[in-house]
Amino acid sequence: MAENKDNNTSNSVDLNREKLTTRQGHPVRDNQNIRTVGNRGPATLENYHFIEKISHFDREEVPERVVHARGSGAFGYFETYGKVGDEPVEKYTRAKVFSGAGKRTPLMVRFSTVAGAKDSPETARDPRGFAVKMYTEDGNWDLVGNNLKIFFIRDAMKFPDMIHAFKADPASNVPNPERMFDFVSRTPEATHMITFLFSPWGIPATYRHMQGSGVNTYKWVNEKGEAVLVKYHWEPKQGIRNLTQDEANEIQAKNVGHATQDLYEAIERGDYPEWELFVQIMEDNYHPELDFDPLDDTKLWPEDQFPWLPVGRMVLDRNPVDFHSEIEQAAFGTGVLVDGMDFSDDKMLQGRTFSYSDTQRYRIGANYLKLPVNSPKAPIRTNQHRGQMDVRDPKESGDNPHINYEPSMLGGFEETGNEGHPPHQPSYNAAVVSEPIDRPNNYGQAGHTYRSLDDWERDELIKNLSEALAACNKKIQDAMIDHFTQADEDYGRRVKEGIEMRVKELEAMAKEDKVPGRESGNSKYGQGG
Ligand code: HEM
Repeated sequence: MAENKDNNTSNSVDLNREKLTTRQGHPVRDNQNIRTVGNRGPATLENYHFIEKISHFDREEVPERVVHARGSGAFGYFETYGKVGDEPVEKYTRAKVFSGAGKRTPLMVRFSTVAGAKDSPETARDPRGFAVKMYTEDGNWDLVGNNLKIFFIRDAMKFPDMIHAFKADPASNVPNPERMFDFVSRTPEATHMITFLFSPWGIPATYRHMQGSGVNTYKWVNEKGEAVLVKYHWEPKQGIRNLTQDEANEIQAKNVGHATQDLYEAIERGDYPEWELFVQIMEDNYHPELDFDPLDDTKLWPEDQFPWLPVGRMVLDRNPVDFHSEIEQAAFGTGVLVDGMDFSDDKMLQGRTFSYSDTQRYRIGANYLKLPVNSPKAPIRTNQHRGQMDVRDPKESGDNPHINYEPSMLGGFEETGNEGHPPHQPSYNAAVVSEPIDRPNNYGQAGHTYRSLDDWERDELIKNLSEALAACNKKIQDAMIDHFTQADEDYGRRVKEGIEMRVKELEAMAKEDKVPGRESGNSKYGQGG
């Protein structure tokens, strides 16, 4: 074997480059060779630099997100129009992020897929996450949304089961759409979302060319403490582009990270993506005139009754410098609202609000809010300190570092009170129950969405559903056909015919040899020859 001297650093030192140090600030004189007894080993245990290097490497990954593990992100700003449609925004909300036309608020965004693992293909038929964190003057505001405007379920209790069904089989680790359709066939409220997901809207072409939506219903609160219900929508100025399954397959064969690459490269070349933010507003009451519950996130709020009103725009103009610290460790949550905003009674929103910070304490650690990407730009004056990795700036302890409790007559921080703003105080008179809502209307909007698709989109929907369902148990097929028929008779009939045709094709294919690849019998490779 030829002698290899390349791993000897002594000749390759460039005097103009910054020099490598350990994390203790010591110079690293040799980063190629561990310390050994003689140059063939054994190795010594006091080799501090090696042990630090390898043990830090052993701990490089944090647990991936339990959902939305695959993602990418960028930084930019939100610019408010100071108005909601033609009206002053203050009529509806006192949130400062929306006041003063032209005011810019720094932000970061993370886009993602839902079910796949951290390096899974970005061409998946899956909703896309659209999470925005605004560093407002009143503290952080997170709008944790998706590209599609509705969701599969309307009650947070079902979320863990839904995700279990959507992820790979727990025994074989093989993705299996039958498990997903098994769950969905027993979840009629998912019919509407499935209609979007299996149409081309289920595979956005890139992150830059997709819409975003808060999906859940929030509240805006004005100076008088009056509240309205509000839904948020992001509209891409780049236009909306979706992929057919064939187009997605073609991209996936060459690139599993095309959406991350597209976003990163667009920002690098100065082609900054931009979205306009719209809201829909509704009075906060039961709305008996509607045939659905306005707090049901499987429903769209009809645009003709609740128009989209522009409130501002978002521009992404900076890429992360370090993906792990700025994007992977970013932590969004639906509980992160500022003054002038509030929670609605949307049962999904309420369940989500517990889940995000809970998982982040596990995924990143108790001090996850100390990380620069998560830390607000507004001052922090809290007594919630200590725990692992407490990287507090001593200034945060305030003028009297002896007082880390409240109330106190000796000093420390003081609660603010309402600061002249009347609080929003909803009142209730109802029994505590575990019950479904009164107006599920699981099929009305699903049928309407089916009929509103373009012809090519409807053809794709039928093809995609038929292919996926053909591999499912007959009971599941029948239940799904029933849901689609209740949404629209033509929809149910076409899926039924599509499944029948596809089952025949699969039966014919089963007779042929299905093992992929060609036999390689003659090579001596691997046999030491
Ligand atoms: C991420 C829970 C519904 C959008 C997550 C994470 C959890 C979670 C635990 C991982 C967070 C992290 O590790 O930082 C839930 C629960 C839901 C729910 C319990 C229902 C009860 C939804 C809905 C949407 C949504 C309806 C869309 C509006 C997102 C997004 C992320 C996410 C965009 C990724 C955030 C990021 O980029 O870090 N969700 N989720 N989730 N969820 Fe949900």
